[in-house]
Amino acid sequence: MNDLASLDDLLALVARGAGVHDEPEIDGLFHALQCAANLSASHPGDPDLIVAGLMHDVADIAFPDDHGDHAARGAALIEPLLGARVARLVGAHVVAKRYLVATDPAYRARLSPRSIETLQLQGDALDPSEIAALASDPDLEAILALRRADEAAKDPAARPPALDAWRPLLEQVAR
Ligand SMILES: [Fe+2]
Ligand SMILES: [Fe+2]
Repeated sequence: MNDLASLDDLLALVARGAGVHDEPEIDGLFHALQCAANLSASHPGDPDLIVAGLMHDVADIAFPDDHGDHAARGAALIEPLLGARVARLVGAHVVAKRYLVATDPAYRARLSPRSIETLQLQGDALDPSEIAALASDPDLEAILALRRADEAAKDPAARPPALDAWRPLLEQVAR
């Protein structure tokens, strides 16, 4: 059911996010569009990262009744079309939250109530050996940038570009 053969399939799936809510005030499409727009502003030279922002919660759209392991399942869903780095960035967005909770004293207060609720299920703050493992990742800066853009992408008043605006960038990354 969720075999994605083309970018058209992937865009159609993300568009279905308009009817899917993980956060109470914003739907899955709006959250994805805001996250991509945030990363386009902060990291305009990293198309993989922007696309990862658009796709990071795609498993919540594909499997709306099951939030468990959504980072890894989203990564597996998009890797055939968007490649290994985008998949790694998507797959790391939950561990990035646990890293920031452990290393940035102000970070937990920036999480939405829903994100704090899921944090408990995801294992809460990383322990020191897990922190060290992620800290040595050569792509750490992008992994954390995606997470901060994710937290900032829950503003009901935002007006991000529409989904079609990202098609050229998706085509570029998919090549
Ligand atoms: Fe997520
Ligand atoms: Fe998210």
